[in-house]
Amino acid sequence: MSYNIALNFEDGVTRFINCSGAESVVDAAYRQGINIPMDCREGACSTCKCRVETGTYSLGDYIEDALSKEEATSGYALACQMRPKSDCVVLIPTGSAACNTKQESYATRIAEVRRLSDSTFSLVLEGDALKGLEFLPGQYANLQVPGEEQHHRAYSFSTMNGGRDSVSFLIRNVPGGLMSNFLRERAQPGTALTMTGPFGSFYLRPRVRPILMLAGGTGLAPFLAMLDKIVAEGGSPYPIHLLYGVNTDRDIVEVERLEAFTHLLPNFTFAVCVVDANSAQPKKGYVTHHIEPSHLNEGEVDIYLCGPPPMVEAVAQHLRDVDVKSASFHFEKFSASIS
Ligand code: FES
Repeated sequence: MSYNIALNFEDGVTRFINCSGAESVVDAAYRQGINIPMDCREGACSTCKCRVETGTYSLGDYIEDALSKEEATSGYALACQMRPKSDCVVLIPTGSAACNTKQESYATRIAEVRRLSDSTFSLVLEGDALKGLEFLPGQYANLQVPGEEQHHRAYSFSTMNGGRDSVSFLIRNVPGGLMSNFLRERAQPGTALTMTGPFGSFYLRPRVRPILMLAGGTGLAPFLAMLDKIVAEGGSPYPIHLLYGVNTDRDIVEVERLEAFTHLLPNFTFAVCVVDANSAQPKKGYVTHHIEPSHLNEGEVDIYLCGPPPMVEAVAQHLRDVDVKSASFHFEKFSASIS
């Protein structure tokens, strides 16, 4: 039996390795060219201590000086001893370069670029190498702006590729933005584009309680990938509610996909809220105006938020105002870059 192990490094790089249930994570990583820091390799020194964020595993043999009981029960493990019993996400407390690895780079070409609205493009990249790409739902990649070799932009994957040779993104149309200018003026099917990744700590954790997803503008993208993954895994026993905030009605995109998810996932609901007071949508204002007590479930909720920094701060302030401490709060801030 071989399991898929995502190694998340401190610098945001994620690398995937396969690991048989019989070998340790250190040995499997080494076999695949990744040198997780270690010293004794016998469970005695704690050099290889890591945190297992998701998945099941056996801890192996070690002494308590290397891993205390408290650490073991709170998800820490020794990578030289742990053997996976399922796919796992493992946080490695050092940068990728220190482990003799780095992010993967992919040569792709544009399959399709589409204007979904005045403010949003959909970009689909394809390439044979993408068949081997793996990422956690919610993560992002860096796209190099063609013709601007020094410049790249970070975008969240908006679908799970599931072994296909293509990936998709939602890209905000930023007036004067390098990537926006490229997409408006020069992008054509077949244009070459280099992608690196995956990156980031904003990704879907195991579903163990209700989930509240808060998306601002193109911050919808990672949630579409997360919902793809939840569908692929057979759904969620807990309610999932998505609040999708935009500035004007013209900014609303991908509602058909969200509607489709409500049919695929009986526990999934969503609402769109629009800042513009003249919106035709029933919910007007910011997402914080539409977070209901039932969404917060007295704190027994995992909150995921992807949006601009003021939105992240407004939601954090809202939680303080209503005196709710959520079980977890994961967020991704993004801001537009022009140069
Ligand atoms: Fe010493 Fe793993 S290398 S405990």
